[in-house]
Amino acid sequence: MTDADIAQLRTEFQQELARVASESDLQAIRDKYLGRKSGAVTALMKAVSTAPADLKPVLGKLANELKQELEALLAEKKALLGASKAPVGAVDISLPGRTPPIGHQHPLTIVREQIEGIFTRMGYQVLEGPEVEDDYHNFEALNMPAEHPARDMQDTLYLDGEIPGQGRPATLLRTHTSPMQIRYMETHQPPVRIIVPGKVYRRDDLDLTHTPMFQQVEGLVVGERITLADLKGTLTTFLHELFENRTQVLFRPSFFPYTEPSVEVFIGCVFCGAKGCPVCKRTGWLEILGSGMVHPRVFEAVGYDPERYTGFAFGVGIERVALLKYGVDDIRLFYENDLRFLEQFPL
Ligand code: FA5
Ligand code: MG
Repeated sequence: MTDADIAQLRTEFQQELARVASESDLQAIRDKYLGRKSGAVTALMKAVSTAPADLKPVLGKLANELKQELEALLAEKKALLGASKAPVGAVDISLPGRTPPIGHQHPLTIVREQIEGIFTRMGYQVLEGPEVEDDYHNFEALNMPAEHPARDMQDTLYLDGEIPGQGRPATLLRTHTSPMQIRYMETHQPPVRIIVPGKVYRRDDLDLTHTPMFQQVEGLVVGERITLADLKGTLTTFLHELFENRTQVLFRPSFFPYTEPSVEVFIGCVFCGAKGCPVCKRTGWLEILGSGMVHPRVFEAVGYDPERYTGFAFGVGIERVALLKYGVDDIRLFYENDLRFLEQFPL
């Protein structure tokens, strides 16, 4: 026996192994080469033991190496055969994992948090108030006594209960976030610098820019020597930050019973380039907030001295901001929960 015999054996083994296609083929080739009784490598090992003494160490080493090499190749082949015949339905651990869909914030939440961020940086405190309100806070204390025509500006959803002797329901779904002006001033002294985000309800018909439930952010600032210039500067800064200076801002005289003077703020319609379209009702402008200087009667209702304190307040519609910011032309999309729409945010 020579080292050439060993090389020959290796070559034959490799050729046969290449043709192995099943577990039984594999067992046959294992028996043929490594079988205890008639295996070719086993015979080789025996032959080494009878070789001349000076060749024994070299041949022994070569035979051992061959045996180990063959065992490794057989094990490798066995693993390959096993992988290719995994039963149907078995877990294939070599496949990439499935990524679960990742949730994200609703566009209205993104806008609300952005508004909160801008005012927080300007030193405002963020508060919330009740959605079920009483007549006093929603109307009366805001200078809208019973039968005041301004109550018709906001068509109200009333709940159960009546104010004794007045024949009017006692509780309602708040029509705006302004009642929190009263609630806050009733329990705190000036200076005041707060915003109040929250849901409000009105018997408004659903259309491109109105929903019966929508969200507002109320703002209130009270102190000594607060002027209309503060209102204008604050709201201009706010809108420029919110719309990244891309928008035109229009201040127009308006009326609210709880502010004097009152100012409505509009933004150039992004859908038609302020030319006039169905979304802006052909005016070129979209109203996004109401504001004004706090009416002295409101200060009287909460026990503030109107001779000493002045202030401004505003209420901004979150949906309207989102429509303009994202160029969405139908407010209803925000509430239909269609993932094809929602998945596009943040833009
Ligand atoms: C008010 O609600 C006043 N309370 C705002 C205010 C606060 C004035 C403090 C003065 C001082 P108005 O009804 O205009 O005002 O509503 C405010 C904003 O809410 C509107 O500019 C608009 O952006 C939004 N809005 C009003 N009605 C709807 C509706 N049905 N759907 C969606 N957004 C609406
Ligand atoms: Mg209005």
